[in-house]
Amino acid sequence: MEALLLGVGLLLGAYVLVYYNLVKAPPCRGLASLRGRTAVVTGANSGIGKMTALELARRGARVVLACRSRERGEAAAFDLRQESGNNEVIFMALDLASLASVRAFATAFLSSEPRLDILIHNAGISSCGRTREPFNLLLRVNHIGPFLLTHLLLPRLKRSAPSRVVVVSSAAHRRGRLDFTRLDRPVVGWRQELRAYADSKLANVLFARELATQLEGTGVTCYAAHPGPVNSDLFLRHVPGWLRPLLRPLAWLVLRAPRGGAQTPLYCALQEGIEPLSGRYFANCHVEEVPPAARDDRAAHRLWEASRKLAGLGPGEDAESDEDSQPEDPGTPSSPSSPHPEEPTASELYPSPQSSTTDWSTVTRRIPVKAELEPQAC
Ligand SMILES: NC(=O)c1ccc[n+]([C@@H]2O[C@H](COP(=O)([O-])OP(=O)(O)OC[C@H]3O[C@@H](n4cnc5c(N)ncnc54)[C@H](OP(=O)(O)O)[C@@H]3O)[C@@H](O)[C@H]2O)c1
Repeated sequence: MEALLLGVGLLLGAYVLVYYNLVKAPPCRGLASLRGRTAVVTGANSGIGKMTALELARRGARVVLACRSRERGEAAAFDLRQESGNNEVIFMALDLASLASVRAFATAFLSSEPRLDILIHNAGISSCGRTREPFNLLLRVNHIGPFLLTHLLLPRLKRSAPSRVVVVSSAAHRRGRLDFTRLDRPVVGWRQELRAYADSKLANVLFARELATQLEGTGVTCYAAHPGPVNSDLFLRHVPGWLRPLLRPLAWLVLRAPRGGAQTPLYCALQEGIEPLSGRYFANCHVEEVPPAARDDRAAHRLWEASRKLAGLGPGEDAESDEDSQPEDPGTPSSPSSPHPEEPTASELYPSPQSSTTDWSTVTRRIPVKAELEPQAC
C-alpha cells in the first residue's frame, strides 16, 4: 500500500513538474489596446487561431476571420462577437490551397478595409487527408498561400505602419530540410507528410527572415512564432476515429490548451519594443535561436524567389513598387471610409519612445541575429 501511494505521489509530482515547465504557456502581457486597428487571422475558426482572434477582439480590434468554410467561419465570428463583446469580428472566405481564392480574398479585403495593422498567418495543415493534389499541398497551405497573401496585402500593411506580420511556425522546423529541386512535388503517405510539414514550417521561419530583410525601414515588422505543443485538431483530425477517444484525454493532460498556444503569436503581434527582432523566431513569448538551416540567408532568398514562381507572381507584380505603399502618418485621422472614428497613434499601439513623425528606418533597424534583447515581461 505504501509503495502504491509513493508511486502515485511520484507520478503526480512528475506531472506537476512537466505541466509547469513544458505544458503551461507563459501569458502574453503586452498592454496594447487595438481600438481603431484591423487584424486578419487566417484559420481563425478553431484552435490557436480562434483564441488569438478572441484576444485581439477583446482588445478592441476589428478582426477579420479568414477561413475556408463559410459555415465554420460565420459560427466562429458569432462566438467571438459574443465572447468579446466586440461586434467588429467578421468572416471573409479564404482557402489557402487555392491561389485564386487567395487573390479573391485580397481583392475583397483591399476594397473594403482601409487598414491592416496585424496579419497573422495561423492556418495550417499537418496532412493532406484524402485530397490528392498534383502539387505539395502542405507547402501550398502552410507557406505559398500565406506568401502570396502577404505580398498582395503589403501595400495596406505599409500604409498602416507600424504594422506586423506573424507567421505561426513550429518547433518542427528544426527537422526541416528544403530540397529546392522538388519543393512542389506531391506528398504521398504519412512519412512524406511528416517531412513536408517540417519543411513547410522551416519555410515559415525563412520567410519571416527574408520578409524582415525586404521590409527593413518600412515600419512593417514580422516574426515567426511557435505556439508550443497544443491540444487542437491539427493532428488528431487525421488519426482513425476509434483512436481519438483514447488520445483526447492524453492530449488534454500533456498538451497546452489553444488559449495557451495563442500566447506567443499574440506576443509577436502586440509586445512593444520587439521591432529590432524583426525576422526572428519566438517560442514561449521569447526570442529563440534557430538551427543553421533556419538562419541561412541565401536559402531564405532562394526560397523567396521559388515561392514567387509557385505563387504565380509575375515580374510586374511587385508589391514594393505600389504607390499606395508609402506609410501614412499614424497620427493622422482615419480615412472617411474607415469603420473606426478614432484611431490610436503608433505610440498608443506599441508604447515606446517614438514621436509621431517617426522615421521607420531607425525604428525597425534590426539587431544582429546573434544579439538578444533583455528578456521581456511575459
Ligand atoms: N497544435 C500544435 O501542437 C501546433 C504546434 C506547432 C505549430 N502549430 C501551428 O499552429 C497553427 C494552428 O494550428 P492549430 O493547432 O490551431 O490547428 P487547427 O485547430 O487544425 O487549426 C488549423 C486552422 O487552419 C485552417 N485551415 C486548414 N486548411 C486551410 C486552408 N486551405 N485555407 C484556410 N484555412 C485552412 C483550418 O480550417 P478548417 O477548420 O476549415 O479545417 C483551421 O481553422 C498551424 O499553422 C500549425 O502548424 C500547431
